[in-house]
Amino acid sequence: MASLTIRKLDEAIKAELRVRAARNGRSVEDEVRVILREAATDALPTATTEAPSSRSATSSERLDYRSKSNAIQNITLIIGGGIAAYKALDLIRRLKERGFIVRCVITHAAQQFVTPLSASALSNNRAYTDLFDPASEFDAGHIRLARDCDLVIVAPATADLMAKMANGHADDLATAILLATNRPILLAPAMNPLMWDNAATRRNVAQLVRDGVTLIGPGTGEMAEAGEAGVGRMSEPTEIADAAVRMVRPQRPRPLAGKRILITAGPTHEPIDPVRYIANRSSGKQGFAIAAAAHAAGADVTLITGPVDLADPAGVNVKRVESARDMLQQVETTLPVDVAIFAAAVADWRVANEGSQKLKKTQGGMPQLELVENPDILATVSHLTQRRPPLVIGFAAETEHLLDNARSKLARKGCDWIVANDVSPATGVMGGDRNTIHLISKDDSSDDGFHVESWPVMTKDDVAAALVDRIATTVKDQTS
Ligand SMILES: Cc1cc2nc3c(=O)[nH]c(=O)nc-3n(C[C@H](O)[C@H](O)[C@H](O)COP(=O)(O)O)c2cc1C
Repeated sequence: MASLTIRKLDEAIKAELRVRAARNGRSVEDEVRVILREAATDALPTATTEAPSSRSATSSERLDYRSKSNAIQNITLIIGGGIAAYKALDLIRRLKERGFIVRCVITHAAQQFVTPLSASALSNNRAYTDLFDPASEFDAGHIRLARDCDLVIVAPATADLMAKMANGHADDLATAILLATNRPILLAPAMNPLMWDNAATRRNVAQLVRDGVTLIGPGTGEMAEAGEAGVGRMSEPTEIADAAVRMVRPQRPRPLAGKRILITAGPTHEPIDPVRYIANRSSGKQGFAIAAAAHAAGADVTLITGPVDLADPAGVNVKRVESARDMLQQVETTLPVDVAIFAAAVADWRVANEGSQKLKKTQGGMPQLELVENPDILATVSHLTQRRPPLVIGFAAETEHLLDNARSKLARKGCDWIVANDVSPATGVMGGDRNTIHLISKDDSSDDGFHVESWPVMTKDDVAAALVDRIATTVKDQTS
């Protein structure tokens, strides 16, 4: 990765950068970072996130259940000068475990307890100690530490540090950052119980809470000082790290919590003999994306998949099968469920006279493969009299007469919705990352008894998110 020295840039560019940085309240270095980040994002292929035309949800209302990991977030960790400072070293690890980038600021008093060397080795970042630091102040380093982060944590928050904060002091790096930040602040106080109970500390804490600062702890327990116990013990590093997660990564809505969802995906392999099989080109990507989105929406998801080259979606119970008959058996074992989504491309036929040994070329000519019909999983489940899921969704992959075929499939199979997609080779849907679908449901008020929604071309992740959104709305309407 090439490095970039702002000082060596063209004067006109530097002037432009300074203006932009000042306008956005950032350091020049941060401004460059933002510009590069935006440029990198723009260069990525953009997904169409436009929502389907919908009877129940507008695009702004539509929730996003795509299974994407949280963007990397930065934390500025200020370590105050208390005996619990050693625990801040463990906190660095706990924050990193949760995917945060941590930059440490160690007050002068804190350096009596922990060293910048330990903090920088554990955080993999330089540890900062001084306000008047030419190495970081050439581009307003204290402002960068205050603003180029998602959260500022103070742990331990000593009585002294909180007193300075409550009164707006800024005479060292830690307090200058705390005064200059526009990010949320999380304090983990730690001190002797008498210091915590002191009227001055009570006033300062009350003021900080009024100022919008969040506190975690202190807890009750034994103090580091021999024989002392009471309120003043710093919260454990895992508790502080979890609080940080809650503050900067708000929980996504989980409208499918408590619901069981079954999804089938991928092709099936129908054996000809022990080494050969009949298959199709289904990649399983759409079914896997739906499973991940349903899990993200809080559902208890079982994914029954034919042979595919995809990793198990996190948190999803995955059952891998080969043939249509295996798939049906696993589906039946998984019932009852609240919603069943049959996205697998199940082979319609299998070989009746499957060879028990590998078929050989013989003088007698070509082997004759006799085909018999496979069980129809969608129709079987849709027509169950007991344990029929309240919502059964089938997929129709067609290469011609898409809507006509899909409508008749809905009527024939007895399911509730059909997700129809055109899989003719020109579309690139089979194995690709995008899909154009039509959601067909029964509608007694329309002339032909169907309602058809045509969704714009979307990534399979977006289709999954939109479908799960629609399922969540329907399931909610059914139960309310
Ligand atoms: C051994 C020792 C332990 C200390 N522990 C604490 C403590 O747990 N909490 C606290 O508020 N002050 C504690 N102090 C006092 C602080 O170190 C002192 O108030 C310091 O100025 C705080 O610096 P800071 O503002 O950089 O945090 C301790 C002092 C000593 C000598």
